[in-house]
Amino acid sequence: MTASNSGRETARELNKVRQYRQYLPDPLSDELLDTLLEIARWTGSSRNTQPWHFIVVTDKERLRQLSEVREAIGWIATAPAAIALVMNGANPASESYDEGRVTERLLIGAHLLGLGGGTAWYGDENQQARAKEILGIPAGRTARSLVALGSITTSRDPRPGAAAGGRKPLAELVSREQFGKSRS
Ligand SMILES: Cc1cc2nc3c(=O)[nH]c(=O)nc-3n(C[C@H](O)[C@H](O)[C@H](O)COP(=O)(O)O)c2cc1C
Repeated sequence: MTASNSGRETARELNKVRQYRQYLPDPLSDELLDTLLEIARWTGSSRNTQPWHFIVVTDKERLRQLSEVREAIGWIATAPAAIALVMNGANPASESYDEGRVTERLLIGAHLLGLGGGTAWYGDENQQARAKEILGIPAGRTARSLVALGSITTSRDPRPGAAAGGRKPLAELVSREQFGKSRS
């Protein structure tokens, strides 16, 4: 089987799901936010535990406070909305995987809805505690990240010293049959 044109188009489309850090001020409608929550809700999780709770944040002042938790996430102050991910805290390893899955679904969902999004990690324990305080999250829960969402113009990273973009070539990333073996 070979990749068809539409297969390549699908890949090109999915590759537009990037980390967006600059947003237009337009608010997101309740309908769009509800659709994104519906997309998040259907994410698969370890043993279908669905170990998450979602906090929708649209209050500008709260987003500004969250943006000050860590310098690297200052850009979330410009987002019209964010969905903060609260994990149950019962199974750290599988829940961190589940958190990654729900994040990626939200980013893909945002793209399909004509929006863009970006993940923002609060940082170390003290920074997580500050984010929990801002969001009123009980101490026993895990709160590591949120997904900022909005209408977008560019995927350019506005932060000084931003990491290089692009991706490693497949030749560096893929083996055939056994680790380190290339196609014969
Ligand atoms: C676990 C994880 C944590 C991240 N934390 C942040 C963050 O706190 N702030 C930020 O601006 N980007 C963060 N990112 C986004 C990455 O910088 C981004 O995925 C990477 O640079 C590729 O971006 P691109 O898809 O636009 O090329 C994080 C990504 C991951 C997977």
